[in-house]
Amino acid sequence: MKDRLELTLRDGTPVIVRPLIEEDRPLVAEAYRRLSPMARYQRFWTRTGEMIGDAMLDRLLDQDPARHVTWALLDPAREFPGVGGASWWRGAIHTNEAEISAMVLDADQRRGIGTLLLAVMWLTAFRAGLEHLVAYTLVDNRLAADWMRDCGAQGSWDGYKLVFRWDLDNLNSLPPTPAATDLAAWLAELSPRML
Ligand SMILES: CC(C)(COP(=O)(O)OP(=O)(O)OC[C@H]1O[C@@H](n2cnc3c(N)ncnc32)[C@H](O)[C@@H]1OP(=O)(O)O)[C@@H](O)C(=O)NCCC(=O)NCCS
Repeated sequence: MKDRLELTLRDGTPVIVRPLIEEDRPLVAEAYRRLSPMARYQRFWTRTGEMIGDAMLDRLLDQDPARHVTWALLDPAREFPGVGGASWWRGAIHTNEAEISAMVLDADQRRGIGTLLLAVMWLTAFRAGLEHLVAYTLVDNRLAADWMRDCGAQGSWDGYKLVFRWDLDNLNSLPPTPAATDLAAWLAELSPRML
């Protein structure tokens, strides 16, 4: 498959990172079911239970490299390989920016997976000619907010949610945090393979 990446996490775990395909429908539905209610709410902003709706599945699987992508991170050694995923959607009005979302299964958070997925989103967005990524989080989602800030996003408050923003061509503005150092390392490693 084009763009299929075989990578090693910092803890030595071999993983596969690749775009979702139509056949991944059951994988995405099962990953959604395995999320804690809190993580599901933080990512999807809904409390509608363990079953993902068809509309959301369609939205995640509708791949178009210029308009929308969703990638998954898989651990092939596991009985259930789905560990995390991330997407971006190009803005309808501000067409030079895309909204990014990410989610990692609860027990696999803080292993560097979100940061690796952010690097992949960064490069696919850059490849599509985008200039900015934006992300929205609920105000009480401290884990995600701290992570985004530590990955170099500029944060603001729009009266309802936190808004984070990255300029894709300005790597020099990344802060000296472990998360941003990790992000810069993945960008350096993956850009020759993806750009
Ligand atoms: C937000 C989210 C995607 C981050 O994913 P993640 O895989 O936990 O992210 P990372 O592990 O790359 O980074 C998170 C933190 O762990 C740290 N970390 C990474 N590897 C680590 C390791 N091996 N040991 C200790 N800490 C580590 C990072 O430095 C970072 O620290 P910081 O936030 O203090 O800067 C994840 O928490 C999640 O899925 N949350 C629920 C859904 C959500 O809120 N999504 C965001 C809104 S769309």
